[in-house]
Amino acid sequence: MNVDLTGKPILIAGASSGIGAATAIACAKAGMPVLLTARREDKLKAVAERVRESGAAAEYTSADVTSPDDCERAVTTCVERFGSIYSVFANAGYGFEATVADCLADDPSSPDTDRIRAIFETNFFGTLNAIRPAIPRMVEAGAGHVLICSSSIGKFAVPRYGPYCASKAAQWHIGRAMNAELRSKGVFTSTVHPIGTKTEFFDEAAKRSNGKNLAENTPSFLMQPPERVAKAIVKCLRKPRAEVWTNLPVKLLAGLLTAAPNATDWMLRGAAKER
Ligand SMILES: NC(=O)c1ccc[n+]([C@@H]2O[C@H](COP(=O)([O-])OP(=O)(O)OC[C@H]3O[C@@H](n4cnc5c(N)ncnc54)[C@H](OP(=O)(O)O)[C@@H]3O)[C@@H](O)[C@H]2O)c1
Repeated sequence: MNVDLTGKPILIAGASSGIGAATAIACAKAGMPVLLTARREDKLKAVAERVRESGAAAEYTSADVTSPDDCERAVTTCVERFGSIYSVFANAGYGFEATVADCLADDPSSPDTDRIRAIFETNFFGTLNAIRPAIPRMVEAGAGHVLICSSSIGKFAVPRYGPYCASKAAQWHIGRAMNAELRSKGVFTSTVHPIGTKTEFFDEAAKRSNGKNLAENTPSFLMQPPERVAKAIVKCLRKPRAEVWTNLPVKLLAGLLTAAPNATDWMLRGAAKER
């Protein structure tokens, strides 16, 4: 199967920087009209201008994925501006470093005071909010492609990143189930599993982790530019597949770690002691 992407609109949630912005540019080069959403309008405007430089159609609207109303409005905007919605990329997300025990000491009364609830509000429920209004339209059209940005560490837990890994694993499972359920209706769902990617992710994570530079813990051979993820996403839109990976050794490692839980546990306990 080879999908012609020309004229097929994509909505990207979390398009103001990093992987989302790079994907917007790559999709536009493939002929897709792009609707960019995120919270920072100035950044969206700048990305839209870069997309238009490539001669493609780009619009933007500010939307917070924790708001179902914002997400509904974003999909409506895509349909009004471009006539339809073919794809939605649920990419908005963030991470932080903290032990599970420290997070459990948070006040659990609301996402404002509970870090685990908050990260699920954005990474997991934000994903559902972003894709919810698009799915009935895709099913009605008999064609569509949902992309969900999980992570390589959505496949295995890493000490001090438990809440982040859990939110990314939840995205992966929802994506896998949806793909099985909606394929017969012409709608694909692919989950994206980047390794460390050089984006604002690490600045945002530092702000949420007492200034710690989380990139320092990631060896340079496990870091990649966002354009690499964007290229793999466009390839997946053309030839739909269940998962998007950009690093084969890490993909294989994820499988091995699942197959050997006791060895994995021993290794992770060692990693947890490191600092
Ligand atoms: N960088 C990595 O190493 C890495 C690895 C694996 C997976 N990922 C995943 O890749 C995705 C993109 O991250 P990135 O690396 O490109 O980092 P990034 O440059 O920080 O991009 C994050 C994007 O999400 C948006 N966002 C965050 N919270 C939002 C909210 N509540 N509503 C709407 N938009 C929101 C941000 O825009 P605004 O702030 O303008 O709203 C921004 O556009 C994330 O889901 C992340 O978990 C990243």
